[in-house]
Amino acid sequence: MNNIDNIENKCLIETVGVDKSYTTKRETIHVLKDTDLKIFSGEILGIVGASGVGKSTLLHVLGGLDRPAKGDVLFKGQNIYYQGNSFLEKFRNIHIGFVFQFFNLLPDFTALENVMFPALIQKKQTFVAKERAQYLLNEVGMKDRMNHRPAELSGGESQRVALARGLMNQPDLLLADEPTGNLDANASDQLIDLIRKLNKEFNQTFVLVTHSQRIAGQLDRVLELINGKANPINQSLLI
Ligand SMILES: Nc1ncnc2c1ncn2[C@@H]1O[C@H](COP(=O)(O)OP(=O)(O)OP(=O)(O)O)[C@@H](O)[C@H]1O
Ligand SMILES: [Mg+2]
Repeated sequence: MNNIDNIENKCLIETVGVDKSYTTKRETIHVLKDTDLKIFSGEILGIVGASGVGKSTLLHVLGGLDRPAKGDVLFKGQNIYYQGNSFLEKFRNIHIGFVFQFFNLLPDFTALENVMFPALIQKKQTFVAKERAQYLLNEVGMKDRMNHRPAELSGGESQRVALARGLMNQPDLLLADEPTGNLDANASDQLIDLIRKLNKEFNQTFVLVTHSQRIAGQLDRVLELINGKANPINQSLLI
């Protein structure tokens, strides 16, 4: 990973001519079509678009989870999909935090253990992982639910645990798929405040998929995914 880490580049990650389709027994759905997009270091980028347009697919492709059929995904200039699966595994663990649309928390483990996992995979000491997990759960307002398993959490609480887990390894890029989708207005505002704070303090880069115009209007830059392409949006029209 060292060669990646040493390259200074304002553009953190970009897709160049990315194509992605899904084929089922009945049809082929062409989701991303020659998609170009750049994400800059230290920005909070919003991605909006109609349901089914391909927002989650785009995040999966950016996060090294789903190989595109065509095109390149360049992280600090290096094509992540040219490497093998063990590179991709390391890339995800070290550089990417992912907040999945449907959380993907491990059901048999507590909120605290779920948040600790990414650090334990990196072989961090348990007490170090525990301390940071407790700090992050406190930051997302989950101090009193750390020992609950996912089935004992509400949707909004699960979402906040998933955000804490995504931030565990201080990733270069946090990809969050509708991280406020299950939160009320007050809890969403608190989450966006936390995202802003982490962005300011640690220059943390975020990509947030959202259906909320109110949230999108508060972000640094917004792209709308339409017909497989990411188009800039005039944010003054959103607020
Ligand atoms: N594994 C799959 N197999 C077949 N089709 C799929 C698969 N995953 C997604 N799709 C289809 O690809 C399209 C894009 O899906 P995606 O989940 O990226 O949309 P989205 O923009 O995130 O939608 P939403 O806002 O509802 O979450 C949809 O039409 C979906 O039905
Ligand atoms: Mg989605």
